[in-house]
Amino acid sequence: MEHNQNGEPFVYTSHSPKDTEALAAWLAKAAFPGAVIGLDGDLGAGKTAFSQSFAKHLGVKGVVNSPTFTIIKEYEGRLPFYHMDVYRVSLEEAEDLGLDEYFYGSGVSLVEWAQIVRELLPELHLHLYLETTGETERRITVQGYGEPYEEWCRSLKQNGVSTE
Ligand SMILES: Nc1ncnc2c1ncn2[C@@H]1O[C@H](COP(=O)(O)OP(=O)(O)O)[C@@H](O)[C@H]1O
Ligand SMILES: [Mg+2]
Repeated sequence: MEHNQNGEPFVYTSHSPKDTEALAAWLAKAAFPGAVIGLDGDLGAGKTAFSQSFAKHLGVKGVVNSPTFTIIKEYEGRLPFYHMDVYRVSLEEAEDLGLDEYFYGSGVSLVEWAQIVRELLPELHLHLYLETTGETERRITVQGYGEPYEEWCRSLKQNGVSTE
């Protein structure tokens, strides 16, 4: 599916895991049933760190591990939380995972290595691109595809990640 890029991205400079957690907390608060967030970036960029913070702020109790070997893990928080890592999956294999059940379900989906399943993602989604720019510095480019995700980006640009 083609994703028309609408709206300016919000480019966030994270200086520490705490900063990344602040962005995750903001997005967890904004999340709604059926929200989809795709994550890309090199190994060690912080995709799983972001996902763990997101889960925590969504009210998930207990440990959220990288789902690398299970592809999809389900958790219960304020909303159901579906954590996916499609690193080891081809697009063809992913087509048989029934991802739509998750994407259009009652929970929130976070997909690590989202570009692999780009054409299976809903047209409306949020995308985060994480880049390592220093030992503990990460540049996180947040791009909305459709509403309400573009509104999230506008709000983040205007107000920063403060959840106040
Ligand atoms: N600003 C930051 N944001 C996120 N993680 C950071 C940051 N600075 C250092 N880190 C560290 O980088 C590592 C990121 O690893 P991980 O989340 O597993 O990456 P990925 O899932 O993208 O491969 C973690 O050890 C984390 O503590
Ligand atoms: Mg990871």
